[in-house]
Parts: sequence; structure tokens; C-alpha cells
Amino acid sequence: MQKFIVEGGAALEGEVTISGAKNAVLPLQAATLLADTPMSIRNVPRLKDVQTLAAVIEGMGVAVRFDEHNNIHTDTRTIHTFTAPYELVRTMRASILVLGPMLARFGEAEVSLPGGCAIGDRPVNLHIAGLEAMGADIRVEEGYIRARAKRLKGARIVMEMVSVTGTENLLMAATLAEGRTVIENAAREPEVTDLARCLIAMGARIEGAGTDRLVVEGVESLKGVDYTVLPDRIETGTFLAAGAITGGRVRTLRAAPDTLDAVLQKFTEAGAAISSGEDWIELDMRGRTLRAVDIRTDPYPAFPTDMQAQFMAMNACSQGIGVVVETIFENRMMHVAELKRLGANIRLEGNTAIVAGMPYLKGAPVMATDLRASACLILAGLAAEGKTTVDRIYHTDRGYECIEHKLAGLGARIERVNA
Ligand code: EPZ
Repeated sequence: MQKFIVEGGAALEGEVTISGAKNAVLPLQAATLLADTPMSIRNVPRLKDVQTLAAVIEGMGVAVRFDEHNNIHTDTRTIHTFTAPYELVRTMRASILVLGPMLARFGEAEVSLPGGCAIGDRPVNLHIAGLEAMGADIRVEEGYIRARAKRLKGARIVMEMVSVTGTENLLMAATLAEGRTVIENAAREPEVTDLARCLIAMGARIEGAGTDRLVVEGVESLKGVDYTVLPDRIETGTFLAAGAITGGRVRTLRAAPDTLDAVLQKFTEAGAAISSGEDWIELDMRGRTLRAVDIRTDPYPAFPTDMQAQFMAMNACSQGIGVVVETIFENRMMHVAELKRLGANIRLEGNTAIVAGMPYLKGAPVMATDLRASACLILAGLAAEGKTTVDRIYHTDRGYECIEHKLAGLGARIERVNA
């Protein structure tokens, strides 16, 4: 098991290049299953989750090649099985994204139920209900979703709640269904819009990308394209938070400012000076006081749940009291107990945390429980006095490409050790 050792106290300073978005490349990998001809995806981050999904798709007989720049090249003409096995899906629940494309193109799919994870039960009932509305025959048995459909039929689907991968699965399925599909209460996350943009380039007929109403006219087939993934807005927010919490100045390059409005507003409210251009964002906290802010997570374009833990760390060593409300996942407050080990003053009432900022945190051994909690603890360690060791950093590697190298490039004292 590896750990990060973080020596706190340095104000971060400099520029960092943002990688492609994890939560965009995963649905795009699934979308390659829809293409009759070879396809390429560029600006792919070097992440465990991307490798896992590639293994799931390769296991079906699809040719999957990573070139020297980590671009992915696929060719589905050799596909021979339509199963996503438990041993892979349980390690990366977004593998559920292959269900819709496989059903739409090949008329059959067998995908292991993803199971829950640390932050919640993570059911997939909305994915299944939407595909059934499109005429799929779906049985859930022995831990697997077994789906069949001669040809999916367009339907009007009203999503009971906003689901990012639920929207993505149904959007992909609808592209090859017969007739029109309308998805109401669709997720509007930039990653959903990036997927829609790619599908349209492949020949899909989609209206309403970026809104909560998607209208899809099914087509007979889709062709492979060469598509570049949009920047990772959560990685961007995490590095800006590193600048904020250490009182430094960080400029993120190859970023997408228009995907982070709610987060940039909160950085400004917290006392940071924010500037941005076409593809960069800069946060300057030098000589400024970090103020506690209230956070309430909600679907895009509101404040993203994937930035909640990072702002909790900021609140922990700010001036004032910040109330953090998590509305998306039922168990996404596990970083609170770990922050308290660093001296944070937090009272937890269900999914609401009342955070009273402390003048300083003190380094201690802590344990990552999930991807964004691990980022939160690294941020807190950068601000704390002394040494913080963050254990179980395999969580971090799922969603951040070479985070210790990128942070060290900003002047952070952080190293990865084998525990
Ligand atoms: C996506 O997860 C992201 N993952 C998550 O990022 C992100 O936190 C989440 O969206 C919310 O923005 C990927 O895109 C790969 P949901 P997803 O379906 O699609 C409930 C990270 O840190 N729900 O939008 O799985 C669900 O339990 C990860 O990068 C159902 O009840 O999330 C949750 O409470 C973590 N039934 C809520 O909806 C369903 O069928 C939103 O979940 C589907 C979802």
C-alpha cells in the first residue's frame, strides 16, 4: 500500500497543466462501442479507471491500443462477447456505461451490477428503467444485468432524479434506437455535453446538449471519429484549492473556465482573486485572508459534489464558520473524521457539516476513504504545520494523474512512499 508524505507550510506558486476529464473520457470510451469503424480519443489522462474500462472493452474482443501519448485507438470489428465481468466492474462502477451502447448496437449485453462504493449505494435503477422504456428486456439475476433488445425503440423518458451516467447511458442507447427519444430532467454536466458533441460528430442526431431536455432521432449506424476530451474541471478546482489553502498563486493551463462558474464564485467568496482567459484560470491568495464559505452541492451548473471535500479542507483552516451540505450522495462526509485528526473543528449533523475555521492545522497520519476525500486530505496536509501522511492513496490514482509531480511543480513538499 502506498502513502503520500506531505510537509505543510509552503505557499504554492506557479503553473500546472490540467489533464483530460476522467468523467468525460469514461463515457467516451463506452461510446466507441457504437462505432462501425475505428475511433481515436485524445487528451486521455493516465488514470487507473481509464485502464480498467479499457480492459472491460478489450475483454469483449474490441481492439484497444494506447499510443505513446496515451491516446486511445479502438476498432470494434473484432468484438465477440457482450459481457462486462464482475471482477472488473466491481473495481470501476462506471463500467455500467457499456450497457447502453452494447444493447443499442448488438442487441444484447450482460453487465455485472456495479455495487456500491464508499460514498453511497450508487444504484443503477434509472439506467435500467430508461432502457426498459426503450423496449429492452432486462433481468437482474446472480449479480448481473442481462439485457436483450431486437432493436431499441425511441421513448420519452423522465429521469426521476438527475443522474450523470444514467443520462449518458440512455443518450448513447438512443442514438441507434428506432425513432425519437426525449430524455427529460437530463444531467447537464459538461461531461454529458462533451459526450453529446462526440456522438454528433459520429453521426448521431441530438438536440438540447447542455440542457435538461435531450431529443435524439435514432440513426442506422455511427462511424468512428478522432475526438479530443475536454479538460478536467474537478482537477482544475482541486489545484486552485491548493493555491487557496496555502495562500499562494496557482495558474491552471489547458483549463475550461466556462465549466467552473459556481466553483470560481465560491473561491472569490472565500477571499481569492480569480482571473481567467480562453484556456487558463489563475487564483491568487497571496496576502489575503481565507474566509469560510457555505457550500451546498447540487447538479450542474450548481456547485459540484466532487468539489465538496476540497472546500471542506479550505473551510477547516479559514476565518469564520462555513456550513457544508451534501445533497447528492448519502455518505460523502468520511473526510470529516480524518480532518478532525488534523485539528479541524467540524460538527456533523447527517449530511450537513458545520466547520469553524482554525488558525492552523497540525500534521498527522490520516487515511483516504474515497477519491475526493484523498484530495481533501492532501490539501489539508499542504496547509498543516508539520508532516501529514495520507494512506490508501490508490483512491487518488483513480482520478488524478501524477498529482504529486504536479503539486511538487508548484513548490509542494510531497512524496509517494511504499508503506
Ligand atoms: C457521476 O457519477 C460521476 N462519475 C461522479 O464522480 C459524480 O460525483 C456524480 O456523477 C455526480 O456528479 C462519473 O461520471 C464516472 P449520478 P454517477 O448517477 O453518474 C442516484 C468522482 O469523484 N442514482 O449522477 O454514478 C445516486 O445514488 C465521481 O469523479 C440513483 O438513485 O452519479 C446519487 O445519489 C464520484 N439511481 C445521485 O443519483 C440511478 O440509477 C446522482 O448520481 C443513478 C443514480
